[in-house]
Amino acid sequence: MRTVVCPGSFDPFTLGHLDVVKRAQQLADHVIVGVARNAGKSALFNAEQRVDFAQRTLQRAGLSAVEVRHVPGLLTEFCDEVGAKHIVKGLRNGADLDSELPMALMNRSISGVETLFILGEPSLSHIASSLVKDVARHGGEISNMVDVDVAHALYLALSEEQ
Ligand code: PNS
Repeated sequence: MRTVVCPGSFDPFTLGHLDVVKRAQQLADHVIVGVARNAGKSALFNAEQRVDFAQRTLQRAGLSAVEVRHVPGLLTEFCDEVGAKHIVKGLRNGADLDSELPMALMNRSISGVETLFILGEPSLSHIASSLVKDVARHGGEISNMVDVDVAHALYLALSEEQ
């Protein structure tokens, strides 16, 4: 059985992430969405919330076979624990590749885990969690970028931020 991990900070999980997970399902028997910490980003939502948002999005989209797990430490250790030899990441553009490449090489170097890159759907390539938060922060429309529950949680969290 081939298990792959789709990792990310998912702050929050978007419909762009959903597209990549759907594509990853075509490559694997078992897909685990790994909600991890990116040391270079400060998260709006805690790990529990980010796991919950990913689960809600996947369930509403009919992808309940996809498991969502918190990755508490090193991604490669998590891959080892769950028996995944491959990480799957989505790419929207060249900038994504620039930031993903060092991580993929580091992960392979320290553990042998290979990263497979999937090209996301171009019509979703403008969707980035950071931009969705910024649009929501200013009251913009985000209903076609995240699940409805995630959109509500975002507006609430950002209204409490001020
Ligand atoms: O969605 P992101 O922020 O691009 O995802 C990056 C993430 C969270 C997958 C990466 O920062 C990560 O793997 N964090 C877990 C800790 C770890 O393994 N760090 C070493 C990365 S080479």
